[in-house]
Amino acid sequence: MASNRTFTMIKPDAVEAGNIGNILAMINNAGFRIVAMKYTKLSEEKAGAFYEVHKERPFYGELVEFMSRGPIVAAILEKDNAVEDFRKLIGATNPAQAEEGTIRKKYAKSIGENAVHGSDSDENAAIEGNFFFSGLERF
Ligand code: CMP
Repeated sequence: MASNRTFTMIKPDAVEAGNIGNILAMINNAGFRIVAMKYTKLSEEKAGAFYEVHKERPFYGELVEFMSRGPIVAAILEKDNAVEDFRKLIGATNPAQAEEGTIRKKYAKSIGENAVHGSDSDENAAIEGNFFFSGLERF
């Protein structure tokens, strides 16, 4: 059975631009419940580990540098069909291809600095949530 949880990060570009509140409002208005949340900063090592699956990609170094340059908001979100519905809400990885009304269309700057992360599968949602949160931090 599909899980009803996904994992997200509000990335350093969106935090720097002052968009935490706007993005959380869009997440709330779309019907997601916050299960866990923290404001934190990834070290280069932690950012590299989180994005390990992209290690061989040409943009990996740039991605690690970007994701460790400032604070982020990490959260586990709950809703029916969470992974798929959240990916619809955030829009395409490249904001130039994101639909109107999506978070990336509104707040992302480029394919690299794209404002938010959303898990791409139930399995990765669980792995990514576990990367940031213990059982005691989930409600
Ligand atoms: P995210 O959904 O967090 O998953 C992988 C991230 O790698 C992606 O968002 C972007 O931040 C980044 N990324 C993906 N493709 C590129 C690219 N072509 N150039 C630079 N960064 C990219």
